[in-house]
Amino acid sequence: MNTLKKLYCVVLLFFAATALADPRIQARPADYLLSGSLVLSSGQVLPAGTRWYQAPDIERLKHEVADASFRGDLTEARRIVFGYDLITNTYATIGEGRQDGQPPLAQGKIMNCSSCHAQGGTVPFAYAFFRTLSFFGLREQGDKGVYFEGLAYHRDARTRARDCGRECGGPVMLTDNSYEMDGLISWLKVVRDGIYPGEGLLFDAFKHKADQAKIPGAQIPLFPKVMEMTSDPLSGKSIYDTHCLRCHEAKGAGQWSDSRGYLVPPLAGKGSFSQAGGPLMIPVGAAFIHRNMPPDNPGLLSQQEALDVMGYVASLPRPSVWWQDYFHRHNPCARPAYLPLHVGTVPREFPFSKQQAQFGPWQAISDWLSSDACKASNPAIPAALEWDFTTLTPIW
Ligand code: HEC
Ligand code: HEC
Repeated sequence: MNTLKKLYCVVLLFFAATALADPRIQARPADYLLSGSLVLSSGQVLPAGTRWYQAPDIERLKHEVADASFRGDLTEARRIVFGYDLITNTYATIGEGRQDGQPPLAQGKIMNCSSCHAQGGTVPFAYAFFRTLSFFGLREQGDKGVYFEGLAYHRDARTRARDCGRECGGPVMLTDNSYEMDGLISWLKVVRDGIYPGEGLLFDAFKHKADQAKIPGAQIPLFPKVMEMTSDPLSGKSIYDTHCLRCHEAKGAGQWSDSRGYLVPPLAGKGSFSQAGGPLMIPVGAAFIHRNMPPDNPGLLSQQEALDVMGYVASLPRPSVWWQDYFHRHNPCARPAYLPLHVGTVPREFPFSKQQAQFGPWQAISDWLSSDACKASNPAIPAALEWDFTTLTPIW
């Protein structure tokens, strides 16, 4: 091999290595500009191309806290930094890797909240936190939170975050009134309002109920025709081997570093999202994958391929949580058509197979669930966990 070729190989290897060293999901510059014009409920028209968001400059805040040059509430600034680290470096901040002498809130190897809530929840279409605080609230001005059909109780921003930690995050046991939760809430505030002037949501309207659903990418829409589609996990396995294996490893094990935690999060087993996690529902998980994976080439997979590969991922073994059996027990006909039957209460007389409920097509299931036939055999009953649900019993 001549020297030039050797050099070329070294450079290629270098890029391959750095691509793997930080393969996280990034916002693309156009993500923060409106792709079409948008009418606010006040009648104000925002033309296409309008910038609507500016991510908070957390690195600047970290520097200013470290060298004490921050001009503002230093206690709050420290809380914000802690909340950001909690989301983006979860194992080292609140897991067994924490160095502050406090008891860990999770056991063993756990992934980051930002494995799904990319860049601390500031990337559109990657389970962003733009609307979270305004939508769920903090029960401040008499607001009760948002009714959660699955367990029939109202969730505020704290209990919503707590539930996600337990069901999706590995599990993580955040408690309602704790330093950790306060840090998380401070970070959610900053995602919405920014740290420095000119940051956060750039239109106040987006912080209010009437317009928060218009924030681009605050939620990930399902594929328009998904209810008629079917997921093929066998074809998903070969898509996985071609496009996912190089990072997520065999059987979705992920890549772990003792000093840095998960470099690539696990898609199965302990430390991964549980059977009660939203992405287990194939249309939900597929929408995230289609938009964000692989992170160095997002949009590579077709909708069908994303549905198939999520079918394979959903079939891998993963932890369960005891309260998943209570989902929709009070009203089984209200369960999502694509919730697998091993989660939640199955309505009496349910005429579809386990296979179809998990892998589709789901339209006929959805029609039956909303029919009088379902309601006739499954009258609603009082909820088993209807109070503001707490899990005082440890789940590991
Ligand atoms: C495996 C992926 C995954 C992980 C890891 C994860 N979440 Fe979530 N999270 C989700 C999904 C899916 C939703 C529901 C999004 C929706 O309804 O649009 C969600 C919703 C939330 C919400 C409500 C957001 C909103 O505006 O509706 C909060 C807050 C939250 N998660 C906090 C956390 C915290 C804290 C952690 C870490 C301890 C965490 N999540 C880890 C997938 C994940
Ligand atoms: C270049 C490496 C890479 C490739 C290839 C890749 N991923 Fe990921 N994946 C990641 C990283 C890193 C994250 C965490 C994102 C972050 O921290 O911003 C992630 C996150 C995820 C998540 C959410 C977190 C979790 O653990 O549930 C899912 C689901 C996922 N990937 C599925 C896939 C699928 C399916 C494929 C193949 C189509 C794929 N990924 C390809 C690196 C990769």
